[in-house]
Amino acid sequence: MPIYFVLLGPPGAGKGTQAQAISKTLGLPHISSGDLFRENLKNQTELGMLAKGFIDRGELVPDDVTIAMIRERLSRTDCQPGALLDGFPRTPAQADALAEMLTGFAGGVNGVPYIRVPEQVLIERLTGRWTCREQGHVFHVKFNPPQKAGICDIDSSELYQREDDKAETVIKRIQVYFQQTMPLIEYYQKAGLLLEVDGTQSIQQVTAELLAALSTVS
Ligand code: AP5
Ligand code: MG
Repeated sequence: MPIYFVLLGPPGAGKGTQAQAISKTLGLPHISSGDLFRENLKNQTELGMLAKGFIDRGELVPDDVTIAMIRERLSRTDCQPGALLDGFPRTPAQADALAEMLTGFAGGVNGVPYIRVPEQVLIERLTGRWTCREQGHVFHVKFNPPQKAGICDIDSSELYQREDDKAETVIKRIQVYFQQTMPLIEYYQKAGLLLEVDGTQSIQQVTAELLAALSTVS
């Protein structure tokens, strides 16, 4: 039976960082909705062009578009063992759609690690982030610097600062998170799936806590 984990947490909580660290260990592909949108943007697809305005304003891309993109991605063969989802679902409608997608061939979502980080920490994390152009690996100028400035340690591609990591867009993204994504904490708590992890610890400590929490459900 395939296994699906959903990483939940505000912008800058460390969802991408942790997914990068644990996806191999879990044997699950890392599926990031933000990375998929950015890949489409880079390739100038119709989907990328549509998503661009929303992403640049720090708003969510409409549910129907996002759900269709994830549905297609999860149908590919590398997702046969399941998936480690990062950034999806982000609204109750997306969570309902995911549950519906998994009906029939999977036992639904297996666990939802919620990486809890207070708001005041997020801005410094995001404005100091450097992202890899090729595969979206993430670094931080202070908390996780690359060995060579401007170069990804993992695939040697160029590191850049995301357009939506400007302070004013970060503030908007955090507001959107509070309004539209926070309800999912209660949604998954009620379903008995929420696994809370303290995201203020070092990256390695968060990884250890996350793997320990996931080992109780997988
Ligand atoms: P997306 O790319 O998903 O952005 P996000 O949710 O805002 O999350 P981030 O990627 O900013 O944060 P993260 O939690 O991954 O943190 P990271 O590990 O990088 O989405 C972008 C946009 O796409 C959205 O705004 C929206 O427009 C659209 N979109 C995406 N999904 C959508 C959906 N489902 N529906 C609708 N629209 C959607 O870490 C951040 C920094 O902190 C890094 O520099 C890292 O090195 C550092 N760091 C990480 N952990 C630690 C630690 N423990 N201590 C110190 N530093 C740390
Ligand atoms: Mg991310």
